[in-house]
Amino acid sequence: MCGIVGYVGKKQATPIILDALKRLEYRGYDSAGLAVLANGGIEVHKTEGKISDLEATLPDIKGLYGIGHTRWATQGAPNTINAHPHVSGNIAVVHNGIIENYQELYDELKGDGYEFVSETDTEVLAHLAHKYYKGNLVAAVIEGLKRVKGTYAAAFLCGDLNQVVAARKDSPLVAGIGNGENFIASDVTAFLKYTRNVVYMHDFELVSLSSKKIEFFDFDGNPIEESIESIEWNIEAAEKSGYPHFMLKEIHEQATSVHDTMLGRISELTGDVVLGEVKLSKEEIRKLERVVIIACGTSYNAGLLGKYLFEGLAGIHTDVDISSEFRYSNPVLGDSTLVISISQSGETADTIAATKEAKTYGCRTLAVTNVVGTTLSREVENIVYTRAGPEIGVAATKTFTSQLITLYLLAVHFARIRKKMDVDMSKRLLVSLKQLPGMIQQILNNRESIRKQAVRFSTARDYFFLGRSLNYPIALEGALKLKEISYIHAEGYAAGELKHGPLALISKDTPVVALATRASTYDKMLNNIKEVKARGAPVLAIAGMDDTEIGKYVDAVIRVPVTVELLYPVLSSVVVQLLAYYTADALGCPIDKPRNLAKSVTVE
Ligand code: AGP
Repeated sequence: MCGIVGYVGKKQATPIILDALKRLEYRGYDSAGLAVLANGGIEVHKTEGKISDLEATLPDIKGLYGIGHTRWATQGAPNTINAHPHVSGNIAVVHNGIIENYQELYDELKGDGYEFVSETDTEVLAHLAHKYYKGNLVAAVIEGLKRVKGTYAAAFLCGDLNQVVAARKDSPLVAGIGNGENFIASDVTAFLKYTRNVVYMHDFELVSLSSKKIEFFDFDGNPIEESIESIEWNIEAAEKSGYPHFMLKEIHEQATSVHDTMLGRISELTGDVVLGEVKLSKEEIRKLERVVIIACGTSYNAGLLGKYLFEGLAGIHTDVDISSEFRYSNPVLGDSTLVISISQSGETADTIAATKEAKTYGCRTLAVTNVVGTTLSREVENIVYTRAGPEIGVAATKTFTSQLITLYLLAVHFARIRKKMDVDMSKRLLVSLKQLPGMIQQILNNRESIRKQAVRFSTARDYFFLGRSLNYPIALEGALKLKEISYIHAEGYAAGELKHGPLALISKDTPVVALATRASTYDKMLNNIKEVKARGAPVLAIAGMDDTEIGKYVDAVIRVPVTVELLYPVLSSVVVQLLAYYTADALGCPIDKPRNLAKSVTVE
């Protein structure tokens, strides 16, 4: 995730900005840059790679005002030109977020005569500020940002002024108030060394920093009073925003990450999904006879849901294969097959090798991945980025739900083009998709009741997760999450398959998590619950808030908000993640770095 910093004060800005950027390194980045007010103008330096690479190339810049950035690419390759700051005339900007109406603004600014040098969406922010600048940077930034749809935390520096201006919408921004110096940053870790007095900014708020004063404004230019908080955390806790583990932080980021995955990709007006990244023509999409999804681990579980979606919504026969098996399976593929490789890291050796293998059959290729510029992205014709932001915990959480959202979007996109879904149905589904972030937040707010259930069963040696249909992949994912971070043996099973063998293992000592949200298979799921209850198993159900029946059959119910059948898997995912997390926490496991596992598996 990009990190932004800004400094104004009496000290040299460059070393402070570099130090602050290093504090944000844990967020992940691929390039870095800074702009400092010096020699009567702004000096900009940037590079692809590490902050140390940037530092190594810097001249001795004398200047007391500056902004800096670590970029985690979302639009445009990770290279020096795309690194921030971006400049228009004497205004420089650094930005974290996504500009949804980039194309419209780009066309307008091009028409105004502005030249674009990068592939980034951020460059429009620099040109907009320049276009509206008439000696007052606050007014120019407000006017420019009012034109922008999307998300941003952005900081601006102007060659004429001893001032840094920053504003936010849906991306984090915090101001630090020091003694004769002031700061802004994406999070407090950046400047905790210099001050513990901070203001957490809200959406549509702007801050103007000079060494003598710090002022806050709304987007009408009215001054606003902010409350100053004192930070008690140490640096390590601050990196995790106060959460004890990255995994818990990342679980909590899902209301935002799911929103970011959808951002600018849904047209409620037409009921269409807008996926400009998919280069397949409408004709090619109509002619697809088969989709083959290849992936590993959690990404494979996402792929299993993809099968239901591509078949159920878009009418395309879909197979899902584990990457390491696919390679050696003599697959039957041709040019009417689309191979979708799912990998959050884009560096999983098995998935890369399987993708290369698939290409030898002449099929079409598409990657669903979270990291720009990875090996996988260089192997495929089409890439859809999940935009979940970097994930540090080894257990995939927010990247999984963003993969699910991406698969919904792809399935609706294909379904509309293949005329398998009418506009009313797609509008209804897209509206429901857009409600998911709020619903995820409701589940997160209810985490204490999930924690209690996790603690209650944390001494179990074996666990079962049961689901049917769309819930089956989430049963697998729940079991995988629990296994990898709590070391409790867990099985994810299609509930109807239980009686064909594993029922022999069910006893009072095997807690069963039943994914029982409303679905066409709901009654059958109730029967499966009764089967395991009859063998003495304690049953914890995940069910909708409107379900008045389920409580009669189970030991405890974790409720999720009511949505359409198709979308419950996203909500249930958050519940199983929290269950796994709190179980591992109760057992004192090293949650972010489980034994024997790595975040990115680059060996076959
Ligand atoms: C998930 O919690 C695991 N750490 C693991 O199964 C992971 O999903 C798998 O290694 C695939 O990784 P990828 O998505 O980066 O390809």
